[in-house]
Amino acid sequence: MTTTSVAQIAVLAGDGVGPEIMTAALAVLKTVSQDQFQYQLQAVPFGGIAIDQCGEPLPATTLATCQASDAVLLAAVGGPKWDQAPQRPEAGLLALRQALNLFANIRPTRITEANQHYSPLKLAAPVDFVIFRELTSGIYFGQPRTFSSEMAVDTMRYQREEIARIARLAFQFATTRSQHVTLVDKANVLASSRLWRQVVAAIAAEFPAVTYDTKYVDATAMQLIAHPEQFDVILTANLFGDILSDEAAEITGSLGTIPSISQGSQGPALYEPIHGSAPDIAGQSRANPIAMIRSVALMLAHSFKRTDLANEITTAIDAVMAAGIVTPDLGGSATTTAVTAAIINHIQESREVYATDHV
Ligand code: IPM
Ligand code: MG
Repeated sequence: MTTTSVAQIAVLAGDGVGPEIMTAALAVLKTVSQDQFQYQLQAVPFGGIAIDQCGEPLPATTLATCQASDAVLLAAVGGPKWDQAPQRPEAGLLALRQALNLFANIRPTRITEANQHYSPLKLAAPVDFVIFRELTSGIYFGQPRTFSSEMAVDTMRYQREEIARIARLAFQFATTRSQHVTLVDKANVLASSRLWRQVVAAIAAEFPAVTYDTKYVDATAMQLIAHPEQFDVILTANLFGDILSDEAAEITGSLGTIPSISQGSQGPALYEPIHGSAPDIAGQSRANPIAMIRSVALMLAHSFKRTDLANEITTAIDAVMAAGIVTPDLGGSATTTAVTAAIINHIQESREVYATDHV
């Protein structure tokens, strides 16, 4: 898209704490966009609320809106209310990822020095790594998939090209960082992991400047706790990435701080927190809005090339966290709205200081 056009953003607030954190993130988007960035929002039902309103988690009109947009913002879906529904809200999420061909899920874990005290770990060095999780294949989608009371089958299946395309993205991304990729797998047991090793080794050879190693997923689970600072880009399959990214998030002190990009090779990318809908705290202004607000920052940087605006948001979040204005998941007592207001204030005050300095 050109800089003069109006960005079209699909907004999927979903269930549980979804609407609250989406409201927070959109308020921050509005603040940072003032005179700087033009956009139009299209709010559409998705997940449990779409089951209630339209009878299915991913209505055709919701998918069409996403397909016609430049980017998709998604909060969270699911909740006990739909446990017995013929289709779960999560099925809508998986269907959306597949329909938009969002094969790469990028989940950053970064913690500034000022905010290291939120970590439950004793960190010896700064932590800054990114998980590249394959998102549209593997055991989440492989056939056959059967269920009876006597036997159930899931299939972990990967084709060469499904591995190659995300591996290329991960190596390209590593060239912009510390130039190291770790492939995480279970190649001592799984055939699909052995294919990952073959394919990824060939791609690694195309990127001589990037160093490359492999680790088993069980050892990685341990290493993430023991020495998280050693990682730069972690490349892994769908299920392993799901599990390791929740573990990685805890290094920052809370799952509530981690955003993600889901992207394909063309079409809109989707931005969402890695956490779920937290129905137990919905409607209480207790949810941490940071992961959703960071998702907006990722969208501005990645889909709209507005790193400047993204950096303003990230700086404000880091400062507000450093000032101790945080929700209960990070040990604080601030509400969702108080954290959001503090982030907005920080952005506005920084802009005023900038304007005064530049008269
Ligand atoms: C995530 C979530 C989803 C997943 C669920 C809600 C289906 O855990 O985005 O990590 O497993 O991919
Ligand atoms: Mg998950």
